[in-house]
Amino acid sequence: MSRKIPFFTTKKNKEIDVERVDNVPNHVAIIMDGNGRWAQKRGLPRIAGHKEGVSAVNKIVKAAVKADVKILTLYTFSTENWKRPKSEIDFILRLPKEFLHIYLPGLISNNVRINTIGDFDALPDHTKEAVQYAVDKTKSNDGLLLNFALNYGSRLEIIHAVKKIIHDIDESKLSIDSLDDKQFSQYLFTTDLSDPDLLIRTGGEKRLSNFMLWQLAYTEFCFSDVLWPDFNESNFLNALEDYKQRKRRYGGI
Ligand code: FPP
Repeated sequence: MSRKIPFFTTKKNKEIDVERVDNVPNHVAIIMDGNGRWAQKRGLPRIAGHKEGVSAVNKIVKAAVKADVKILTLYTFSTENWKRPKSEIDFILRLPKEFLHIYLPGLISNNVRINTIGDFDALPDHTKEAVQYAVDKTKSNDGLLLNFALNYGSRLEIIHAVKKIIHDIDESKLSIDSLDDKQFSQYLFTTDLSDPDLLIRTGGEKRLSNFMLWQLAYTEFCFSDVLWPDFNESNFLNALEDYKQRKRRYGGI
């Protein structure tokens, strides 16, 4: 089966034929690593890698729409990234606004819905305003859910959930006996989102870096040596192809 899907572009949309990939993961989560090394290899400041990383985000969002992925979660800024030099933090936190300034019209015309997970309130106002605008503008879209993990950390998320659960028990809105993993999930930033089926980490490192620790319990992992700014549609499709070969047993046989 083939479909026609317009490329995202700020100019006129171009139609292309796309072969539908079978057994596509519903939810793909990506740890976008390697921006700094990409820049350093070229004798550029680290922020040049983050800037180039924005173009890679656009390429992979397009590829996800074409492949019919339903949710794409991107680890954009972690709760640990506050340890970086202020100039780098400021630069990274301006990127969502830059990305949306260029690509929001294309995202809207491709039926993409924007969402975030993380401690949103602690972000700078300019980041919050740009992202909230995009969330509001796309809230009735029902195509790809593009989920930015912004000021996200899994341990923070779990502690936040536990505090809310204790509060709801105190207020008699929740009984201890009814608490199970489904209900616990509802208290996480991801609430109604299904768990990732596939996690991709670029940049050669093989660790989770405090990313979706609860949600990745049964996720398939794919580690790529490609640095994020170089990660392209074909690398993404290879990961989907690799996923296709996996037998998911969820602890069964
Ligand atoms: C990790 O690479 C990357 C980040 C902490 C920032 C990720 C941000 C982007 C890819 C751009 C954001 C785009 C949008 C659309 C908001 P690193 O700096 O740790 O790389 P290194 O391991 O090579 O040092």
